[in-house]
Amino acid sequence: NKGKYKHYMQKEIHEQPESLTTTMRGRLIRGGACKSKTVLLGGLKDHLKTIRRSRRIVFVGCGTSYNAALASRPIVEELSGVPVTMEVASDLVDRQGPIYREDTAVFVSQSGETADTLQALDYALENGALCVGITNTVGSALARKTHCGVHINAGCEIGVASTKAYTSQIVVMAMLALAVGGDMISNEARREAIIDGLLDLPSKVKEVLKLDEEMKDLAELLINEQSLLVFGRGYNYATALEGALKVKEVALMHSEGILAGEMKHGPLALVDHNLPIVVIATRDACFSKQQSVIQQLHARKGRLIVMCTKGDSASVSVGGSCRVIEVPHVEDCLQPVLNVIPLQLLAYHLTVLRGHNVDQPRNLAKSVTTQ
Ligand code: UD1
Ligand code: M6R
Repeated sequence: NKGKYKHYMQKEIHEQPESLTTTMRGRLIRGGACKSKTVLLGGLKDHLKTIRRSRRIVFVGCGTSYNAALASRPIVEELSGVPVTMEVASDLVDRQGPIYREDTAVFVSQSGETADTLQALDYALENGALCVGITNTVGSALARKTHCGVHINAGCEIGVASTKAYTSQIVVMAMLALAVGGDMISNEARREAIIDGLLDLPSKVKEVLKLDEEMKDLAELLINEQSLLVFGRGYNYATALEGALKVKEVALMHSEGILAGEMKHGPLALVDHNLPIVVIATRDACFSKQQSVIQQLHARKGRLIVMCTKGDSASVSVGGSCRVIEVPHVEDCLQPVLNVIPLQLLAYHLTVLRGHNVDQPRNLAKSVTTQ
């Protein structure tokens, strides 16, 4: 039932304040003698010691689920102190890459039925790793075969393009980082700030959703483009990949997410006065580097659309010439949850304006159960 919405993708984008609330329900609690806030993930509590002691955490997924894991990687590394490596499920299987008993392998899948992810899971189980699932689907093959895990509880997702599951996956992995890093006094203040940020997320997501009309206007401007680049780095490298994946899969427009740090190692050659480029430059430790990226793209006459923190328009818009998307600020590791939303809206409006099928993009299936 789509209610007042025309498409499931649209409904699922606008549902995110509620889906994120459900994802967090009962999992953020005030506990302990000092009444500090903590995270309780019922599905992981008996395994936290093993995860903390593991030599490495390996994130495995495909498509949007891989991107969600990539967005969470920095905070998991920071709070757990355990090195995190990333694996696209099919590539891990193709390479038969090394997985050891001392590893924790975390499998991320909305459907819990993706063939590549399940094959990678079988492989990791054979190699003796602790296997953790993060899925939206209770009773799925992933939920059944993993040793433990977390249900993201985002509610049923029908549109082929994953939207609300992406933001809920990031929130679950941020909670996983908090739970795994939960015994370190040294990062207590940071953990509290993240928990406050999590509690604030639904209202900030509501605020971002007000950009809907603005994103429709932007889509009108971009309707006939051949291609769209999205530059991001740090926490928002994943946002660039995910924004580009949305535009590609539903609007059927070529789009590429680019790690901004790689700009001079190739992509800069593409920049001219025609090609539209989204640059994600919200406030975090990478902000000044992104400001310099903007200046360099501007110097090559790039057509820039800059996503920045509310109030920062003047510091990102060189010569007042670029289009700006302003988003609210939240703790850095949660910023990807907010930043992806304008790009989801942009992909949605581009699809409608270009006359393509929103919920069933050509050639794609919601759950890829064959290889
Ligand atoms: C569980 C209940 C929830 C209830 C809550 C009350 C279920 C599905 N969840 O939620 O209804 O309100 O207790 O305390 O009944 N698991 C895997 N692999 C996965 C995902 C999960 O093995 O990929 C396992 C977990 O380790 C756990 C179980 O499934 O043993 C349920 O996980 P989850 O729903 O995340 O646990 P709770 O949040 O505690
Ligand atoms: O169900 P899964 O999360 O395992 O699915 C993985 C990918 O097939 C999926 O995310 C795909 O990339 C989406 N259509 C993206 O919107």
